[in-house]
Amino acid sequence: MDGVLIKNLSAHVGEEVTINGWLYNRRGSGKIQFLILRDGTGLTQGVLVKGEKPELFDDAKKISQESSVRVTGVVEENPKSPGGFELQVNNIEVVSQTEDYPVTLKEHGVEFLADRRHLWIRTPKQSAILRIRSEVEMAAHEFFYQNDFIQADAPIITPNACEGTTTLFEIDYHGDPAYLSQSGQLYNEANAMALGRVYCFGPVFRAEKSKTRRHLMEFWMIEAEAAYFNNEDNMKLQEEMVSHIIKRVLKNRSAELEVLKRDTSKLEAVQLPFPRLSYTEAVELLQKKGHEFNWGDDFGAPDETVISEEYNAPVFIHRFPTNIKAFYMKPDPDDENVVLGADLIAPEGYGEIIGGGQRIDELEMLEQRLEEHQLPKEEFEWYLDLRRYGSVPHSGFGLGLERLVAWICGLEHVRETIPFPRMLYRMHP
Ligand code: 4AD
Ligand code: MG
Repeated sequence: MDGVLIKNLSAHVGEEVTINGWLYNRRGSGKIQFLILRDGTGLTQGVLVKGEKPELFDDAKKISQESSVRVTGVVEENPKSPGGFELQVNNIEVVSQTEDYPVTLKEHGVEFLADRRHLWIRTPKQSAILRIRSEVEMAAHEFFYQNDFIQADAPIITPNACEGTTTLFEIDYHGDPAYLSQSGQLYNEANAMALGRVYCFGPVFRAEKSKTRRHLMEFWMIEAEAAYFNNEDNMKLQEEMVSHIIKRVLKNRSAELEVLKRDTSKLEAVQLPFPRLSYTEAVELLQKKGHEFNWGDDFGAPDETVISEEYNAPVFIHRFPTNIKAFYMKPDPDDENVVLGADLIAPEGYGEIIGGGQRIDELEMLEQRLEEHQLPKEEFEWYLDLRRYGSVPHSGFGLGLERLVAWICGLEHVRETIPFPRMLYRMHP
């Protein structure tokens, strides 16, 4: 493929180059035409003056929105052009002419756009979000690589439930029941006993009956697990990772954040260490602010928002009541009613972005918990082996990618943070 990317135009001022892209929009008058082009890396404009090239000018007028085009021209700097550069057009090759493009440039309702998600993602805002999502993923990989974590991915098809049995998607595995993974954690724990520090990154599935702006049925989780890490080490790892991701996005994706009109001062304000609040302290805070909340209840979205409003950075809430948390959470030796786990709550009302904690490393207690949670012991024998053979204190966490991206981008709803969202009442396109 010959040509240059729109994002690299600044390196080609004065040269003739070709842009391989699509016609996003057209502006201008009878005498001058601006073809707004996109190629996935950004927008630029191609300039045509009727007096100079009358034939090309008239041909260009016939090109419709979202036709694919290869546009050749000389690069010039122009602060008024999208991206700061433009092309003085010498030639246009129409690769495919489009007819009746449905996602016109006027405002559309969300349902209309969601039905046409495969086209909606071409618009500048949606493309900017997806580029930021990719940057977040790269930043996470980079962080783990720099900290000696090995990527060891977990299976998607599993015989056991990690996060309770109410949100399982069941499948038929050659006649046996199996489930789509809710979390790679249990396998991460096995991998951590082999490799020390590991992470997995993949899609996870929850048949949630929740139709909120934070819930998807299929989402991507970045999950880390480390041998010999306690809950404090685990929180430190999380805050360093989140801070690393934010810094890299601010550095490499400022143009995208600008497209989204994100107030970046909110992201720049995120400093280490993140505040830490025990569950009990969080309950007191809620009560002090006049919220009805009893010790032992789980936080709902409004509670999380009230707590997060107190801080500029994400806040850890640790030591939740044992009986509202998952079976594998290690009780605090100083108070068995609470666990050595923490949730990380994002600022600005974005809610829980990470759940994690220290795991039960002792065989008998884990067997007892499986029983209490009515989980089938046979399916967990391999997991119990990890406590039989060389068990060590260990901790880990899972970061919900879409919620992190929604916060970084300042979006109302997680559905825009993934190319093709799966929601309670939507799995098309
Ligand atoms: O808190 P959760 O359920 O924790 C776990 O699954 C642990 N096993 C992870 C681990 O320790 N390895 O989920 C982790 C995160 C949440 O904090 C949230 O950000 C996200 O996953 N999440 C969802 N995101 C979108 N849609 C949903 N339905 C989500 N459910 C959880
Ligand atoms: Mg959670």
